[in-house]
Order: sequence, then structure tokens, then C-alpha cells
Amino acid sequence: MAILKNMDNNKEKNRNEQKDTKGNAIKNDGMQSSQLMKLFEDSLKDLYWAEKALTKALPEMAKKATSAELVDALNHHLTETEVQLERIEEIFELIEKKAVTKKCDAIEGLIKEGQSIMKECEEGSMRDAGIISAAQKIEHYEIASYGTLKTFAHTLGLKQIAELLEETLKEEKAADEKLTEVAMSAINIQASENEVESD
Ligand SMILES: [Fe+2]
Repeated sequence: MAILKNMDNNKEKNRNEQKDTKGNAIKNDGMQSSQLMKLFEDSLKDLYWAEKALTKALPEMAKKATSAELVDALNHHLTETEVQLERIEEIFELIEKKAVTKKCDAIEGLIKEGQSIMKECEEGSMRDAGIISAAQKIEHYEIASYGTLKTFAHTLGLKQIAELLEETLKEEKAADEKLTEVAMSAINIQASENEVESD
């Protein structure tokens, strides 16, 4: 209920503050808020599907990875993903909607791309590099999606939900940074091996 009240307050705020580029007040009778709420709900369903798919894709990637650091990073993110799923379910509860998935074509495509890279690359550092690249593309999609969803929540006056989304967003960004670190250290090891070989 508190959320719905916040939304009403926010509608009131929008009515008072929104102006177009010429400074004319934009008519806002709540229609925009309800359309945004619908978009918010659809995006949440999309992410719910994506996170569920990732709980299957991440272990598959970890199984095919060689570097212990990469395996750790993927397993750690799998644990986070399980918590992220619970957060999404909590958000559905807060907006008083049933938690349902909506197929996310983008994540499905990115997961498929990762699978074909793993199939094509020989086990070892090359396959690890391919796994990192696929996982980072997935993270970037999630960062963009959670960022947008958080902005929607702010606009709708859903403060508690925006905070939950921020927690997940931070984890996604940290996971992406960790993957960059793993990639950099793998490149360094590779470079030092090459140096030894050429001595
Ligand atoms: Fe995630």
C-alpha cells in the first residue's frame, strides 16, 4: 500500500514539475505512470527469465573453464544470481504481482553465443578468454537492464524497490570488474610464458 501511495505522490509531483523543452507544462494525468509501471513489470519479468537461465548457464561455463580464478568468479556469481532471483521475487511481492517470467531473447542469444564459443575453442586459455567475453556481454546486458529498471522505480516513487535493484546492480558491476581482472591476469600469465619461451 505504501508503494501505491508513493506512486500517487509521484504522480502529483510529475503533474507539478514536468515541462517540455519550451517550458510548457506537459499534461500528465497518471497515464504515463501506469504505462511506465507496465513497462517496469515487463522488464522485471524479462530479468526474472534471464536470471533463471543464468543459474543453468553459469555452472556450464564454470565446468568448461580452466583457470581456477575464472571458475571461482563464475561460481561466486552463481551464488549471487540465486540471491538476485529472490530479490526479483521480493519486488513482485512489493508491487503485488505474481512472479512470472517472460522469455528474454537477448539473454538467450548471448547464452547461445557463449555455448558455441565453448564448443569451438579448445580447452585452456583460449576457451577461458571466450568464456570471459561471453560472460561479460551477459553482465553488460544485466547492468543496462537493472540500471533502467532502477530509474523506472525512482520515477515511479518506488524507493524500496530502487534500493533492492541497486544492490543487484552493484553485484553485476563487481562481477564484470572481476571478469576483467581475470582476463588481465590471464593475459599477463600468457605474456610471461611467451617471454620464458623466447629466452
Ligand atoms: Fe544477475
